[in-house]
Amino acid sequence: MHEQLLTKIALNTDIGIIVLNSEKTIVLWNKWIEKTSRRASTETIGKSLSKVFPETIGSRLDQAISGAINSGNSALLSSAWNLHTLPLFKTESTDTRLMQSLMIKPISFDGESYCLLEVFDVTNSNNREALLREKTSESVHALNAAETASKTKTEYVSTVSHELRTPLTSITGALGLILGGVVGEIPEKARGLIEVANYNTTRLLSIINDLLDIEKIEAGKMEFIFSQVDLNQLCSQVVEHNQNYAQSHNVRFECHLNKRPMLVSADTHRISQVLANLLSNAAKFSFADHAVTVTLNEIANKHCRVAIQNHGNGIPESYQETLFEKFTQVQGNQSASKGSGLGLNICRAIINKHDGNIGFHSILHDTTTFFFDLKLVDSAN
Ligand SMILES: Nc1ncnc2c1ncn2[C@@H]1O[C@H](COP(=O)(O)OP(=O)(O)OP(=O)(O)O)[C@@H](O)[C@H]1O
Ligand SMILES: [Mg+2]
Repeated sequence: MHEQLLTKIALNTDIGIIVLNSEKTIVLWNKWIEKTSRRASTETIGKSLSKVFPETIGSRLDQAISGAINSGNSALLSSAWNLHTLPLFKTESTDTRLMQSLMIKPISFDGESYCLLEVFDVTNSNNREALLREKTSESVHALNAAETASKTKTEYVSTVSHELRTPLTSITGALGLILGGVVGEIPEKARGLIEVANYNTTRLLSIINDLLDIEKIEAGKMEFIFSQVDLNQLCSQVVEHNQNYAQSHNVRFECHLNKRPMLVSADTHRISQVLANLLSNAAKFSFADHAVTVTLNEIANKHCRVAIQNHGNGIPESYQETLFEKFTQVQGNQSASKGSGLGLNICRAIINKHDGNIGFHSILHDTTTFFFDLKLVDSAN
């Protein structure tokens, strides 16, 4: 009873099943195989497989069957890798070949050796695989094209920026000299116009410098010259140099230095650049007539924290993740001097190069504090 049931299942199951005896004669030919080979079991049972399918003689499949019967080896053949699988068809009406995966297994029964062939239709998964391969190759092409375009764009921006910087530097210099009185007294009407021109060329120059810096950072070409620096001294110098900027925004910079030397290994020029941007941001986004404070403190793990705090509208929590990305500017935060939104991105790249950490915390309509932490150099060394 049990055996009959199993035979019925084997005959009706939705995969192809063929059983051959040790003479390679067919002893079981199920319905699925009947359908896909277009041969009824009555035509095939008792015949050798090579008679039913002469194309299998000497093929990889034939060798695998011999291997299963004679040496008890299993094998897996697939239409994708081995052309010599069984000639089976997808439908009765068309000659579309079935993509198949063929498992060849040895079995023994009642002291006799048999070979079991299990055939699986893999047409759909093969098609999906082919489609996937095609899409992957399209994506790789698109990626290559995008990379080339991006490289061309970067080179273009860099060339244009370089070409613009030289004449702009000389215009800014000349305007500065005129405003400084080098060519004598300037009529009041002309002074206003020259001041506007000077402000805008200076701003343009700073955008161009930022673009060039970003390009250098992205190409890994920004150079750093490290030396031992006392952050107390560096901070007070940068604050001093930027005091005019604070005044132009009706704020004042106050420096609370640490009594102990805060020695770090840093690139003076680049850390000054970070400080200058954080100070300019603090001034730009501060309520008028308030102080912007710079404090230096030793924090955990032998690090020094430089914190720049201002009073202003602040930065909503939602910007925590993105503020240091290029061109991110807080919506609704107004400032008399417009920036390009590159400053913090450059600051982060510089601090990362110092193995440091940069961040901010902000209480809306109250205080905003930007900080960066650098490792202290052991002064005993
Ligand atoms: N202290 C602050 N208070 C409030 N908002 C700030 C503060 N600092 C930075 N921001 C916000 O972060 C944005 C990005 O600052 P970032 O320095 O990158 O660019 P920017 O100052 O606009 O332009 P620039 O490239 O000239 O520095 C600012 O535009 C502002 O919206
Ligand atoms: Mg800025």
